[in-house]
Amino acid sequence: MSTLNSAIAPHGGQLINRIASAEQRQDFLEKADYLPRVSLDARSQSDLEMIAIGAFSPLTGFMGQADYSRVVNEMYLANGVPWSIPITLPVSRAVADPLIEGTLVRLDNAEGDFIGVLELTEKYTYDKVHEAVQVYRTDDHNHPGVKVVYTQGEVNLAGAVWLLERQPHPQFPDYQIDPAASRAMFEAKGWKTIVGFQTRNPIHRAHEYIQKCALETVDGLFLHPLVGATKSDDIPADVRMRCYEILMDHYFPQDRVILAINPAAMRYAGPREAIFHALVRKNYGCTHFIVGRDHAGVGDYYGTYDAQHIFDEFQPGELGIVPMKFEHAFYCTRTEQMATSKTSPSTPEERVHLSGTKVREMLRRGELPPPQFSRPEVAAELAKAMRTPAAV
Ligand code: ADX
Repeated sequence: MSTLNSAIAPHGGQLINRIASAEQRQDFLEKADYLPRVSLDARSQSDLEMIAIGAFSPLTGFMGQADYSRVVNEMYLANGVPWSIPITLPVSRAVADPLIEGTLVRLDNAEGDFIGVLELTEKYTYDKVHEAVQVYRTDDHNHPGVKVVYTQGEVNLAGAVWLLERQPHPQFPDYQIDPAASRAMFEAKGWKTIVGFQTRNPIHRAHEYIQKCALETVDGLFLHPLVGATKSDDIPADVRMRCYEILMDHYFPQDRVILAINPAAMRYAGPREAIFHALVRKNYGCTHFIVGRDHAGVGDYYGTYDAQHIFDEFQPGELGIVPMKFEHAFYCTRTEQMATSKTSPSTPEERVHLSGTKVREMLRRGELPPPQFSRPEVAAELAKAMRTPAAV
C-alpha cells in the first residue's frame, strides 16, 4: 500500500492494493479446487477489480451490513468516511445458504475462471425498495439501476477480497492506467491540480468545451471514460474510445491530457453516482472533478443540476476533491462559439444542442450530427460504427 508523493491523499488516507502477491496466488491456486464457488456477473467482477486496484479505497471488500446501512441511509461508511453507493455482492439464497462465515470463497468470472477470493465475514438480507429509493431516488423498475437491484440476489455476501491477478484489459490494454500508475504519471508530469472527467457517451463539443474550460484553470486533464457495463442502448466502449483518440490526435494539447479507462460499471444513480465518481477519481489522483448537466442521469429521474447540489450536503473539504460545476453547454449561433447561459445572450432558438437519443436517431437515418454538435471526424466515426451491425 502506498500513497506515493501525489498531491492528493487517496480517499480514507491509504491507497488499497488487494491484488494477490505471487505467494498468495500460489496458495489460493492450491486451494482452488476445494473452495466453494460464487460466479460473478459483469458488475461484481468490475467491482472486485476496482476494489483490488485501489479505485474504491478505502474499501477492501464487499460491504458488510454496518457499512451498507449507513451508506444507503446517510452516504457515509460506518467509520464516518463519505461514500454514496453500496458496493455489495448479492447472490441468491441457494448460493448463500451453504457458505460459512469465516471461510474463503472462490470467485469465478462468468466463464468459470478463478479470478478472486472472498474472505466471507457476513451474509445479510436487505430491503431492495429501500435501497432503490435511497440511492436512485425512485422505486421505478424501469430505471436501469433500480432494475439491476430488483433482479439481483437477495443475500449480500461481505468481506475483504483478493484479485488473483491483474490482467491487461482485453480491449484497451494501453489505456489501463490503475490508480498507483496515474498518480505516478501526474507526479512525473509535475501536475499539482488535475481535473477528472467521467463519461459514458461519445465525446461531443459540449464535453470538449467544459473539459477545456476546466483545463484553463488546472494543470492536467484526466479523461476517464467508463468502460464497464452500461445499458444496452449506450454506445459501445470501443466506439467511444475511438472518438476519444480522435480528440487526442487533433483537438487536445497532448502534454496536458491523459486518456485512461475507468473499468467501473455504470449505475445511472445521478446525484449519488456523481459523488461516487468524484471519490473514485480522487483515488486516481485527481484534485478536481467535472460535474455538468444531469451527471450520470437517465431519463427524467433527476433534475438537471441535482448531481451538483448533492455536493453541498457535505462540509467543505469533507470529500477531499473539488467539484467543477458546469451549466448546460451548447453552441451559440449568435456568438458563434460554445457557451452556456452564463456566458451567452442567446435565445433558445440560437442554441444548438442534441440529446444522445436524437444523435442516435440521426445516425440511424444516415444523417451526420452537425459540426456545431460534434467534431466532423467523430461524427464520421459514429456513422462508420452505425454501418457495423448492432454497433450503435
Ligand atoms: S454521464 O452519465 O457519464 O454523466 P455523459 O458522458 O453524457 O454522461 O456526461 C459526461 C459529463 O459531461 C457529465 O459530467 C455531464 O454532466 C457532462 N455533460 C454532458 N453533456 C453536457 C452538456 N451539454 N453541458 C454540460 N455538461 C454536460
